[in-house]
Amino acid sequence: MLEIYLERINDVLNTAPEQDANAVVLAGPLTGAVTMEHVSFRYSKQGPLILEDVSVAVNPGSRVALVGRTGSGKSTLARLMAGLYEPSTGRLLFDGKDLKYLDLHSVRSQLGIVTQDTKLFGGTVAPKHCPGGPYDGSGPRSSGRQTGVHP
Ligand SMILES: Nc1ncnc2c1ncn2[C@@H]1O[C@H](COP(=O)(O)OP(=O)(O)O)[C@@H](O)[C@H]1O
Ligand SMILES: [Mg+2]
Repeated sequence: MLEIYLERINDVLNTAPEQDANAVVLAGPLTGAVTMEHVSFRYSKQGPLILEDVSVAVNPGSRVALVGRTGSGKSTLARLMAGLYEPSTGRLLFDGKDLKYLDLHSVRSQLGIVTQDTKLFGGTVAPKHCPGGPYDGSGPRSSGRQTGVHP
């Protein structure tokens, strides 16, 4: 059993960092402008094109619903926006800056994501509201009030 744990730890230690820290800059406070320019994407080199030449402009403060049949690529597009995958071709911009050159942690700490299959870790509720931190308690209280779970 211990051997298996050690193998898994080695997997993590041997994994190359997601980004070269010298090649990216901190995002700074984002306004919410998200642009996709001619984005195409496939999960593997030989795999089918999942997104083909998608261009989208989302204005700050707007609400956008992506609607389409199951398997049409909605979740894939959301994963690209969170920087979990890179477009195969095309660009993704936050406030006009190419996501490729932004520190992903500084972007993701400003995104809220609720996945379809949510898993809760142990511990208190508060850190789950702001997994990117830092956490001063005000965010969880405010969202708790809005959703009616906190007085
Ligand atoms: N990790 C993956 N590897 C390979 N293909 C995937 C992966 N995730 C999704 N797909 C494929 O990409 C297509 C779009 O899936 P998805 O983005 O989940 O669609 P939606 O969210 O609109 O239902 C589907 O054909 C799906 O099988
Ligand atoms: Mg989906």
